[in-house]
Amino acid sequence: MSMDYVTSRLATEDGGPARLAYGGDYNPEQWPEEVWQEDVQLMREAGVNLVSVGIFSWALLEPAEGEYEFGWLDRVLDLLHANGIRVDLANATASPPPWFSHKYPQSLPVRADGVQLGYGSRQAFSANSPEYRRAAAALTQQIVDRYADHPAVVMWHVHNEYGCHNQPDYGGYSAAAFRVWLERRYKSLEGLNAAWGTAFWSQHYYSWEEVQPPRISGTWVNPTQQLDFARFSSDALLECYQAEAEIIRARSPHPVTTNFMGFNMGLQAPVDYWRWSRDMDIVSNDHYLIADDERNFQHLAMTADLTRGWAQGKPWLLMEHSTSAVNWQPRNVAKAPGEMLRNSLQHVARGSDGALFFQWRASRAGAEKYHSGMLPHAGTDSKVWREVVQLGKALQSIAEVVGSVVEGVQVAILHDTDARWASELDSHPSVDADALAETRRWHDAFYRAGITTDIRQSTDDLSGYRLVIAPMLYLVTDEGHANLEGFVRNGGDLVVTYFSGIVDENDAIRLAPAAGGGYPGAFLDLLGVRMEEFFPLRSGEQVQLDGYGTGSRWSELGRTTTAEALAVFTSGPVAGSPAVTRNKAGSGTAYYVATTLGTEGLDRLVQELAEGAGVEPVLPDLPPDVEAVRRSRDGQSWIFVLNHGADEAVVQVQGTELIGGTEANPLRVPGGGSAVVRLQSQPKDAA
Ligand code: GAL
Repeated sequence: MSMDYVTSRLATEDGGPARLAYGGDYNPEQWPEEVWQEDVQLMREAGVNLVSVGIFSWALLEPAEGEYEFGWLDRVLDLLHANGIRVDLANATASPPPWFSHKYPQSLPVRADGVQLGYGSRQAFSANSPEYRRAAAALTQQIVDRYADHPAVVMWHVHNEYGCHNQPDYGGYSAAAFRVWLERRYKSLEGLNAAWGTAFWSQHYYSWEEVQPPRISGTWVNPTQQLDFARFSSDALLECYQAEAEIIRARSPHPVTTNFMGFNMGLQAPVDYWRWSRDMDIVSNDHYLIADDERNFQHLAMTADLTRGWAQGKPWLLMEHSTSAVNWQPRNVAKAPGEMLRNSLQHVARGSDGALFFQWRASRAGAEKYHSGMLPHAGTDSKVWREVVQLGKALQSIAEVVGSVVEGVQVAILHDTDARWASELDSHPSVDADALAETRRWHDAFYRAGITTDIRQSTDDLSGYRLVIAPMLYLVTDEGHANLEGFVRNGGDLVVTYFSGIVDENDAIRLAPAAGGGYPGAFLDLLGVRMEEFFPLRSGEQVQLDGYGTGSRWSELGRTTTAEALAVFTSGPVAGSPAVTRNKAGSGTAYYVATTLGTEGLDRLVQELAEGAGVEPVLPDLPPDVEAVRRSRDGQSWIFVLNHGADEAVVQVQGTELIGGTEANPLRVPGGGSAVVRLQSQPKDAA
């Protein structure tokens, strides 16, 4: 099923006008039935058109094994349908009921330290428990048999945020499944021993039964074992998704998805979304602002760009965000007036065909009762509700953008799952070598420059980009390396930062004897540098460069071979070594950055890189803290302008501003405000 189908169907499936999805998780089972009438009435008032139902309803839908109770859900779906509200129906497998865990205690997940988790929260299961898989499949079958033809249902929501709480699982079921996975990967124990480098510390395996998950040991567990376990754990959960999705697809033509968790895909919750997204009919994602991050709107932008990458540039769906505060941070900061609208439109600007929330009505009981909802505890006489109604209207007024795409993006930032996981393994040169943080710094710099970036992986087709940034691509596969090399030789500009290309897919150092050894192994020739020793910096330490300001966190001793040094370290332990270099290779250019540049230096470098590659911002001369992103379809373009600053912004763009229904020439956006302009004429070929 193509995503084009999904977008257009969700937009117009009942013959009505095109619309962006608007709504959120709806958990009517938390409320007496008389409240449901008020729910749908208020949903209509707010312009809600899509709700996710049943995500955590297993215990009510199957009160005892094999006994199903669907009466209440029938009534909910009928009521929603009667009110024109479409349903993204869950198969309810995210939270096995207490009766299940009580009956099958062996299905509960086990932590690395051997502690078996209890039930009483959610996701209390091991992905490899046959009892769980059997029960989840049976429930899915029941639900899809009953509701496949229900006219309210337009989409399927499998599970919820796979791996959020129960990943990875180190119990017996996972140990057995891990061995099977390893046998499939390595064919023989010799293969496994070689890949894991078991000659080190006397770890040689002589039989498969000896192989265990990387449970807590006296000190660092074999890093390749950890990396493989992350890969295996992601695959095990994916098998659960695939089995449930297959049951649904056999019976229903509607799109199937599961909601992703953005960048929360690290080693602690290993789910390889690049791999998973191939099994989504529409990629959907959840995003929550982190209160401590003062520029969390930039984190939002980066996450939306990543989600668009998983969707291969096609429209995707924001499945969850919050109307205001969440409940799970140390200080749950509420949203300022206008912030929710801005957040929602930011996601839409970057490719989401809608804005959905967790959740419709704020709970009165349970662990999330302090989490905001579309309908807050304060009711309709409230800031949140007024803004929910306002957002519904805003989404209606810009509905024509449905199905358009963020096209012509000229810069890609790489974020490979394996590289991220491997970079997070223990006993590395410095805790400050943080792939996610370095990726954010580079994304932020392009954001400040007003340049839209895609986020892709090193093995993707990069030929459409002019400039590719590889921030800490610590692990690079042969395939990824060849792809990047080809990209440069065919005329692309590539930036590789420190601690990249260091290990192969087995986390073994890439030694490069042909070039005389040295780092960064995979990229020595392409970059024309040869580094011989890492010199991580002390916490807070800064070193001077003779160009691009200062460096922090990292430096390294080495020299250029064929590259030209654009800047060298002039202070610190490696004074005289190259810090920023440029090397011609084929008809392209490869840059190396051997430290974390300060904001000013990084901005200057990004400016030069953009000029060198002929990359332009979406709009010239954007005021600071003002974001502009363009979506296009069939020769028509819309520019989203989000003013994250406090002052009014004047932006040089002509066209119709759709939310206010005014003509813009220029556009004036108040502090904290948002605007969407249908362009009269096409700007230059910029993204
Ligand atoms: C998400 C989850 C929702 C809800 C929300 C609270 O991770 O999918 O069910 O818990 O967080 O922010």
